[in-house]
Amino acid sequence: MPKADQGCYLPVAGVLTATPQWHKRSTVHAKGKAGKGDVGGSDTGKWPRKCARVVSICRPAGHFLAWGGDRGQLLVWAGGASYCGAMPRALITGVTGQDGSYLATLLLEKGYEVHGLIRRASSFNTQRLDAIYRDPHESGVRFFMHYGDLSDSGSLVNLVRGLEPDEIYHLGAQSHVKVSFEIPEYTSDVTGMGTVRILEAIRASGVQTRFYQASSSEMFGLSVPPQDEATPFHPRSPYGVAKVFAHWMTINYRESYGLFASNGILFNHESPRRGETFVSRKITRAVARIKAGIQDTIYLGNLDSKRDWGYAPEYVEAMWLMLQHDTPEDFVIASGEAHSVREFALRAFEHAGLDFERHVKIDPSYYRPAEVDHLRGDPSKAFRVLGWKPRTRFDELIELMVDADIKLLDDELSGRLVSQDRDH
Ligand code: NAP
Ligand code: GDD
Repeated sequence: MPKADQGCYLPVAGVLTATPQWHKRSTVHAKGKAGKGDVGGSDTGKWPRKCARVVSICRPAGHFLAWGGDRGQLLVWAGGASYCGAMPRALITGVTGQDGSYLATLLLEKGYEVHGLIRRASSFNTQRLDAIYRDPHESGVRFFMHYGDLSDSGSLVNLVRGLEPDEIYHLGAQSHVKVSFEIPEYTSDVTGMGTVRILEAIRASGVQTRFYQASSSEMFGLSVPPQDEATPFHPRSPYGVAKVFAHWMTINYRESYGLFASNGILFNHESPRRGETFVSRKITRAVARIKAGIQDTIYLGNLDSKRDWGYAPEYVEAMWLMLQHDTPEDFVIASGEAHSVREFALRAFEHAGLDFERHVKIDPSYYRPAEVDHLRGDPSKAFRVLGWKPRTRFDELIELMVDADIKLLDDELSGRLVSQDRDH
């Protein structure tokens, strides 16, 4: 439970009118002047400009905890008296992955208590969480990890029932497209059925929550770009097929049971935390190693496919925005630009002052049995409805990834910690 003296809870004098919605939450329209203090960082002193959302209605009725505001800060309307309400609680599957680690950080910054599902591995698999992990024995800890697996319904039911999260971000998946051709059954189970297991856990436990499904542009496959929310799906891999299944299951639970369930159809998004066997990171790591003289050649597959690439930390903001929206809907999240793998590699080599032609070779074993040639998203709906826009453009993304890999390698070399590449 929040304490009134926590910095992120601010008193606000104003008018809040609540429209009851599907469960304990309501949409709050707030108007009025700030109470004491700096209200949500608003430069006009008015709070908030748009809507905030009630996360808990306390007794006596009329006391609300609302959050949102201009920058998503937690705000309390005290109803003229005391503070009340509960700190919003989120559960993230796939928290150890690229997106999960950025999303956990974002939610902690917004004042959430964050719980992440991790699967058992024979060695540590939580490196991406090092910056936010704190020993749970310390006081004030708001980030917790729980063992479970998307192939294990019992662990999911227990977690959802035990935590009663306000929001569930389902990001866990076997997410590598090429690997999905080699392990199609496992991919269908974890990436497809994993979603059904969580949806069923929500339904069986009766927990009132909002659900985010990590859908993918890979579902569009052969469909002609630009792809938007109305574009038909034509997946080209077991991964893509599993994501289509999960996407439609999410819609089915929304329509059948009134669950607040939204699909984010995200196009490729990258970062220095990107898995090392996705093409962007494979290239930027190789560039760093070639520059340092410890590698000479990088072997790649199809250089002609085009992708719509964005920056992961901005894409997780869109996930959060989807679950703050008044209604559950599906959104395409993309940059709106497409570039080939060749362009990506050329720019990465050029940024490091290296010759692409000298160091890049083709290995057909990286070709896929069926390829997705051209993805370019139309994110107009997200611009219009969520106010979301990408900020980091193609060249900037590549440069920041190359620079980060050069720095990482320097750090590893100075500590003699260079590890072996294990590519798929
Ligand atoms: P990622 O880095 O590959 O992370 C995947 C996460 O899922 C990891 O935490 C992984 O755990 C976990 N996981 C895998 N199998 C699991 C299992 N059986 N049980 C529990 N957890 C399991 O993926 P990402 O790039 O962050 O993407 C996040 C989600 O968005 C995925 O669903 C992906 O398919 C989807 N997506 C990604 C993109 C993109 O461009 N990045 C675009 C569209 C959609 P370990 O760390 O232990 O492996
Ligand atoms: N991985 C990889 N390795 N891809 C290569 C290579 C290589 O050596 N050489 C060329 N490529 C090409 C692939 O054939 C593909 O056309 C493109 O580079 C991008 O491949 P990935 O980086 O593996 O990403 P992806 O587009 O297949 O899948 C990613 O984006 C999806 C969204 O569209 C993953 O993050 C998926 O989980 C995500 O859903």
